[in-house]
Amino acid sequence: MKKDLLTVGQLSKQEIYDIFSLTAKIKKTPHKYGNVLRGRSLALIFQKPSNRTYVSFYVGMFQLGGTALYLGPDQIKLGERETVHDVAKTLSRYVNGIVLRTFAHQTVIDMARYADVPVINGLSDFSHPCQALADLFTIKEKFGKCKDITLAYIGDGNNVCNSLISACAKLGVHLNIATPRGYEPDASVIKSARAIGLQSGSVIRFFDKALAAARGADVLYTDVWASMGQEKEAQKRKRAFKAFQLNSELRAAANKGAYIMHCLPAHRGEEITDEVIDGKGSIVFDEAENRLHVQKAVLVQLMGR
Ligand code: CP
Ligand code: NVA
Repeated sequence: MKKDLLTVGQLSKQEIYDIFSLTAKIKKTPHKYGNVLRGRSLALIFQKPSNRTYVSFYVGMFQLGGTALYLGPDQIKLGERETVHDVAKTLSRYVNGIVLRTFAHQTVIDMARYADVPVINGLSDFSHPCQALADLFTIKEKFGKCKDITLAYIGDGNNVCNSLISACAKLGVHLNIATPRGYEPDASVIKSARAIGLQSGSVIRFFDKALAAARGADVLYTDVWASMGQEKEAQKRKRAFKAFQLNSELRAAANKGAYIMHCLPAHRGEEITDEVIDGKGSIVFDEAENRLHVQKAVLVQLMGR
């Protein structure tokens, strides 16, 4: 049966570690995997802009011996020119996999339901599983483990935050989350992460002050205050998030040698200062690079013969 990657929540701890061990091999010896997806093709349906997700999937497919094609908002016009059902059924006759970046998470679910080929969520308003997998792989690379690392997430309880929560809970990473009131992560994600945490040892704590969340953290993580599709709320959000900036004061409160992470793109001067994103401990480009390696592992697992 075909498999999809729609959320981190669907993966077991073992499945995540299996992705990580294949990722490490691919990263170390990419040439050994130069033919594994020969003759296979991947459709990249993007209803929102992208640098990392688009380029890393495109190049990743090429490096695995396959090919990828970009289908931007003006080409497919998903749900407008054709229903999700008809797009899924048609593309399944041409390609061996589909990456979808869209707004409503239900669109990703529908695409996976109707497609006869694997569907990978390349970001929805609800989740960004490829990002969280790359983030946790990066943490494992830096610390040699995930368990009992403390990550402080400062800012918006958005798609990236939801996926991080699921991933951290599964791998025993402790989370300190600071968001303004009204911008908390998804309640069902928190509930299931807490239940998983009872097994994995991961503890999730919420703070209303960013500084309090940063104390004792090994990793400080943030994301934009207004995500793609929320541009109209940008001014209102700037006011709401003012006290939730990842700056040098927060870095000083974290553990010595704490790493700085950001999924990117960054709005410098808003959720993160130049000094912090360009400064000591920042691993944002290692994190961005790992998107490529992790996604190659996911592609091999889902689309390999
Ligand atoms: N982090 C991330 O997904 O970046 P893009 O929006 O550029 O793909
Ligand atoms: N939360 C951001 C992440 C971008 C990678 C957004 O959805 O725009």
